[in-house]
Amino acid sequence: MTRRTKIYEGKAKILFEGPDPGTIITYFKDDATAFNAEKKGTLNGKGVINNHISEYVMTALSNIGVENHFIERTSMREQLVKAVEIIPVEVIVRNIAAGSICKRLGIAEGTPLREPLVEYCYKSDEFGDPVISEEHALNFGWATGEELDEMMHNALRVNDFMSGLFHAIGIKLVDFKLEFGRLYEGEECRVILADEISPDGCRLWDLKTGEKLDKDRFRRDLGGEMEAYQEVARRLGILPEADVTKIAEHRKKDS
Ligand code: TMP
Ligand code: ASP
Repeated sequence: MTRRTKIYEGKAKILFEGPDPGTIITYFKDDATAFNAEKKGTLNGKGVINNHISEYVMTALSNIGVENHFIERTSMREQLVKAVEIIPVEVIVRNIAAGSICKRLGIAEGTPLREPLVEYCYKSDEFGDPVISEEHALNFGWATGEELDEMMHNALRVNDFMSGLFHAIGIKLVDFKLEFGRLYEGEECRVILADEISPDGCRLWDLKTGEKLDKDRFRRDLGGEMEAYQEVARRLGILPEADVTKIAEHRKKDS
């Protein structure tokens, strides 16, 4: 890796100072974690695939007017993004019950929800990203009412758009998590979509077989994680000629 200033290292990405003020280079790692990093692993080539999938989805969202931090992909594992101040409230949108909502509320996995359900979580590894209400976010000053409205509105737009996008390639969008950030421009500050959109933070089920094509393969020790991520990329028409071994070769070489 070339010498440059690291700003932050998270579980799946490293952030470096970008070439211009207000920009950041995001490096997508192959590291995978689950259950607040109690379970750790490496999925060779995951970073390359997530970088490309996130580029694809964020670009498509920009095109329908959902403003986000993505500027351009700069290499197999890196993308240039706008620097934002991440709001510590994660937005989860669910179309079908799966994962933590089943455990918390005793709902059977696979139950379709009457309408998209939006949940907020406090972004904190220490406390295991607990579900919170709007009141918590307001009371503790994590986000303002306007910011939460903006986040909810955009999360539902992202859900409508992505549900259609994935349905068209034979995939059910079960749920996903979004993060938003504050973009400061002069005196102005607005909330835009940030982080990544990839099978790490979405549940994606094959429409016909119900096969899981997301990080649940890792969380639940199902195996075939990379084949699943690659299948999502292939169906989206990105990295068409790539295979997992070739992608994995970029692990050390790239950037
Ligand atoms: P959950 O069922 O564990 O609450 O997760 C719902 C969706 O949000 C699932 O697609 C995984 C994603 N998610 C993350 O990517 N990171 C997180 O920290 C959390 C809480 C959820
Ligand atoms: N990304 C979170 C973690 O590591 C939660 C998850 O995706 O399961 O721990």
